[in-house]
Amino acid sequence: MEIREESRENWGTRAGFILAAVGSAVGLGNLWGFPYKLYSFGGGAFLIPYVFALIAIGIPMMILEFSLGHITQRAAPDAFGRLNRKFEVVGWWAIILSFVIMTYYPVILAYCFSFLWYSLKGAFLKQALPWAGAGIEGVKNANDFFYNQFLGYHQDLTLGALQPSLILPLALTWLAAYLCTFKGTKHVGRVVLLTVPLPWIMLLILTVRGMTLPGSAHGLAFYLNPDWSELAEPTTWRYAFGQVFFSLSLAFGVMITYASFLHRKSDLNNNAAIVGLADLATSFIAGLAVFSTLGAMSFASQQAGNPIPVTEVVAGGPGLTFVAFPYALAQLPAAPWFSILFFVTLVTLGIDSAFSISESVLAAIVDKTGWKRSIVLPSIMLIGFLIGLVFITQGGLNWLGIIDGFINGTWGIAFIGCLECLILGWLYRIDRLRLHAND
Ligand code: PFF
Repeated sequence: MEIREESRENWGTRAGFILAAVGSAVGLGNLWGFPYKLYSFGGGAFLIPYVFALIAIGIPMMILEFSLGHITQRAAPDAFGRLNRKFEVVGWWAIILSFVIMTYYPVILAYCFSFLWYSLKGAFLKQALPWAGAGIEGVKNANDFFYNQFLGYHQDLTLGALQPSLILPLALTWLAAYLCTFKGTKHVGRVVLLTVPLPWIMLLILTVRGMTLPGSAHGLAFYLNPDWSELAEPTTWRYAFGQVFFSLSLAFGVMITYASFLHRKSDLNNNAAIVGLADLATSFIAGLAVFSTLGAMSFASQQAGNPIPVTEVVAGGPGLTFVAFPYALAQLPAAPWFSILFFVTLVTLGIDSAFSISESVLAAIVDKTGWKRSIVLPSIMLIGFLIGLVFITQGGLNWLGIIDGFINGTWGIAFIGCLECLILGWLYRIDRLRLHAND
């Protein structure tokens, strides 16, 4: 296949590309997926399957996706189509997955914006944080606030009424994603100069603070104590591999698209290793921040005569981010300020992942149809916003869970991941891609 030399948009600098790829990989999944899975599947022992999955599949797959995008200079569907027309459909399946994530990921960011707003009111207007409370009753209160008052949640699958207070935060999230991306790839390369280092700095502050509070070691023991027997369980390995794929944004067409905007002379292998290791480090540190804070919270509650064990509040997903962690922060000194720090961390962690997903969908459509970016981008974002309204209804969180389960399930990441390996490794000449990457 000949390499196309055409004037395609590019990142401007190597750092622009690396940071954008890291920005996509490092997201909400690092904070609410990794620590919880590590805790649930063997503690410190989980690091073994996780690092194995990262080295055996994660980084090699990323090199593969980078090479495909770079060699074809096309987003996923066209990139696969260039190998063989029949493969184009695989690229579209990845784009469909991206599109699906694109509708619900911003909803979680909208929650973060709302919680940030409450924290700001707590810090500047001295209003009580609505999820704060003491002892076991306080945990119930934090749950009640998030599920009942904030989401108006009901358990069945009917949608029920729209939560009006979430419409504005959702619109804000999309507006932020639009402002970050509308000027094109070079501009995205500059935006990530802020959205990648900022959450890292804040995560470090949260970690240092968590680890210097009394009782934090107790929480860390929960996080890191190895339970070797978990290694014999196939589910442990499945979760490790699934988490690597989601966390590295593999099999969604994002990394193919991002690499398609790279200069001809670019270092693909080292870039993939840098992104993979940066993602691993962020996940691990997020775990330190979460568990040291939960440990300190447990200690503080014990001192106050109303003890709450760490296990009582450990959770993954929305439960960690919007119930357990805010509750834990609220037990500790300077709560509103650290809540602001936590939610700004989440917003900046998530926003570059959110817009990377839109970029993947956008580039696929623009490459295929030749339509103008300035029209396609706002159109898909508007559609994303409108579909996202489904998830801010009373039954929305249930639907979000089902759809997220589909993405992470058999027909989602696993299916596309296997197909990609089969096609690029066996049906297409892998030596061609290897040569290209090594060049
Ligand atoms: N990697 C992101 C995270 O860990 O939060 C999520 C993600 C972003 C998945 C982009 C897929 C994607 F295309």
